[in-house]
Amino acid sequence: MKVALIGSGGREHAIARTLSQHKNEVHVFPGNPGMIKHATVHLDQNKFDSTFVDSLSKSDFELVVIGPEQPLCDGLADQLRKKGMNVVGPGEAGAQLEKSKIYAKKFMEEFQIPTSKYSKVESSQDCLLKAQSYTAPYVLKMDGLAGGKGVFVCKDISDLEKAAQEIFPTHQSVFLEEFVQGWELSYIVLTDGDNYQACPLTQDHKRLLDGDHGPNTGGMGVVGPLQIEDELNERIHEKIVLPTLKGLKSKGITYRGVLYFGLMINDQNQIQVLEYNVRFGDPETQVIFSLLKEDPAPWLLSVSNGQISPTNFSDEQSSAYVVLAAPGYPDKPIKNLKIEGDIFQEIKDKHYFIASAVNKNEDHFVTSGGRVLGSLGLGADLGSALETAYENANKISWKGLQMRSDIGKNTQ
Ligand code: GLY
Repeated sequence: MKVALIGSGGREHAIARTLSQHKNEVHVFPGNPGMIKHATVHLDQNKFDSTFVDSLSKSDFELVVIGPEQPLCDGLADQLRKKGMNVVGPGEAGAQLEKSKIYAKKFMEEFQIPTSKYSKVESSQDCLLKAQSYTAPYVLKMDGLAGGKGVFVCKDISDLEKAAQEIFPTHQSVFLEEFVQGWELSYIVLTDGDNYQACPLTQDHKRLLDGDHGPNTGGMGVVGPLQIEDELNERIHEKIVLPTLKGLKSKGITYRGVLYFGLMINDQNQIQVLEYNVRFGDPETQVIFSLLKEDPAPWLLSVSNGQISPTNFSDEQSSAYVVLAAPGYPDKPIKNLKIEGDIFQEIKDKHYFIASAVNKNEDHFVTSGGRVLGSLGLGADLGSALETAYENANKISWKGLQMRSDIGKNTQ
């Protein structure tokens, strides 16, 4: 199948690699120079405007997969569908679930989907006033897209004050949220709008540092598949996934794409939705796609044309992914640091996915963003998958490289 893939990160590298292993012809817009073994990259194509839509629709692509949230929120899927293309990804209306966290909160209230208490706050003073009806720790979130980085977890009032002072000069739409204790689960489904298939369950590690310390990031490492009790799975289906799909339908939204439920499960097995994302998770996708047993192209195509036909994932293997980030990530990642090691190594159960690295200097790659690349390991169990992922991660280095050493250590 000839597939157009929009995006440029490790997530898109993973999708491109799997598709190309099954002899699909993959073109990534814009992609990144680390993907060239698995796809044709169109590095200068990073504007998804009407000229791009026209040119894509005149090519013979059978399927378009939109990776990141921004083009989805900008309505790229709608524009491509108007041209008759098969697209994995919701239109602008469905993408609101990720574009505005406040919209998502209201949606959950409307359809009685469990989520934590929140209050919109208008200023630092208002934030401190409203914090009186919450207990520490506090969560302060910016509305709008923030690449997983617009969340401040504040241990006390003085931390909250600092976060509010940092946010308010530049952001106006902000809310305070109750902190929810528990363990996080990335519950990612593909849906044609009526039916869905859940991907293998995964767990991300959002904080920068070991022990879940430091600032929030886009995700520092993922493990999967997680096994959960049937009863819990059934409750997620009944109380969260079905009401969300019904809610979207009742609003006249035909949702064909990926829906990612960021869930928190407490020690009494109660579930709350922390967030919706309207796309594959990054780096969850690197783990999910490594567990596929067959060509994902027909599965993705079936989602795009409204008749989902489930695919098969391995449950005999575990997968682990460890992110290697630039110094300064997530605030100000340092670019142009020389990467040492063979980032193109391709061994069956271990390899790298490249997100932000460029080969400006011909003979070597340098860092060009925050989450530079990641190391994936497969194994018969989680322990051996992690060992492989870490062993391989340690073969790569650059000055000031940041990597968590406890991915998968406290997995449920
Ligand atoms: N890994 C979290 C996300 O994709 O939003």
